Amino acid sequence: MTDTALETFVRGLPKAELHMHIEGSLEPELMFELAERNGVVLPFQSVDEIRAAYAFSNLQDFLDIYYQGAGVLLTAADFKDLALAYFRRLAADGGTHAEIFFDPQTHTDRGVAFGTVIEGLTAGMAQAQAELGVTAKLILCFLRHLDEAAAFATLEQAKPYLAQIAGVGLDSSEVGHPPAKFARVLQAARDLGLKVVAHAGEEGPPAYVWEAVDLIKVDRIDHGNRALEDDCLTARLVQDGVTLTVCPLSNLKLCGVSDLKHHPLKRMLKLGLKATVNSDDPAYFGGYLLENYLQTAQALDLTRDELATLARNSFTGSFLDDAEKARRLAGIDAYLASH
Ligand code: HPA
Ligand code: ZN
Repeated sequence: MTDTALETFVRGLPKAELHMHIEGSLEPELMFELAERNGVVLPFQSVDEIRAAYAFSNLQDFLDIYYQGAGVLLTAADFKDLALAYFRRLAADGGTHAEIFFDPQTHTDRGVAFGTVIEGLTAGMAQAQAELGVTAKLILCFLRHLDEAAAFATLEQAKPYLAQIAGVGLDSSEVGHPPAKFARVLQAARDLGLKVVAHAGEEGPPAYVWEAVDLIKVDRIDHGNRALEDDCLTARLVQDGVTLTVCPLSNLKLCGVSDLKHHPLKRMLKLGLKATVNSDDPAYFGGYLLENYLQTAQALDLTRDELATLARNSFTGSFLDDAEKARRLAGIDAYLASH
């Protein structure tokens, strides 16, 4: 396929995004606009200066600047604008469904009410569905560098909004904060009817992925790259059909891989792992969903069949109900039959 044929094919391919932190879709332009609207002083003079600061050598480097950027988000309107900007980009990329992470503790710790965050994000989701036909679900992430008590307090704050929340996850600094630290609060969330996911194996060792699977019994693994270091774990993930929400440009920008040509995505597919492609924090890592597909496809020579498998995995691994999954998969089949 030529580059343009590839882009046309992937853009048109119906696909879901399962790993995207909404605070990570805050573009520098919107950051400035919201800073001005809210009277927040940024330590940057220009959009270019912000972009120049986006040179990361590991996850923590990125997180420090990401939490700082989120400081401009104060009102429900801010969260709605943020969400809508993301959904517009997703729709332009041919994305039709998204399950987005949000980090309530980043906001409640600054005095923004939990309900304000939910109100804004759900307003953005409703408008995206009405105007763009894009569906979405919310996944509440606990910050794993904070303690279990803080996670329990956050789950308590979420209780009035459970109808708006599909699941919970674990994000932030992975190393030193294994899934086991949150086993009880994740079980409490599951008891409330929520799905459970966890970032594991992004920088953390295979042992963290084992914990996520065996102890937490996660519904998906976010990233999972380092699982490939353990053949037994890989076999287990294949056998259980565990979806991995892989984020190629994120892995490149946070130096998990030195070049996309060395990215494990193609190997994951060949091993039979249920890998998906996602953007993680697109405003910080240089590309939204389509760009992640295209750059990875070019670097790894992904075939048309592999691209279709990635799109299928994004729906089979989603939290849509079975009838809806079947409808979305039929949409992929119809697209492939005519393209
Ligand atoms: N990893 C962990 N925590 C995060 C990330 C990530 O890639 N993005 C936002 N929070
Ligand atoms: Zn992530």
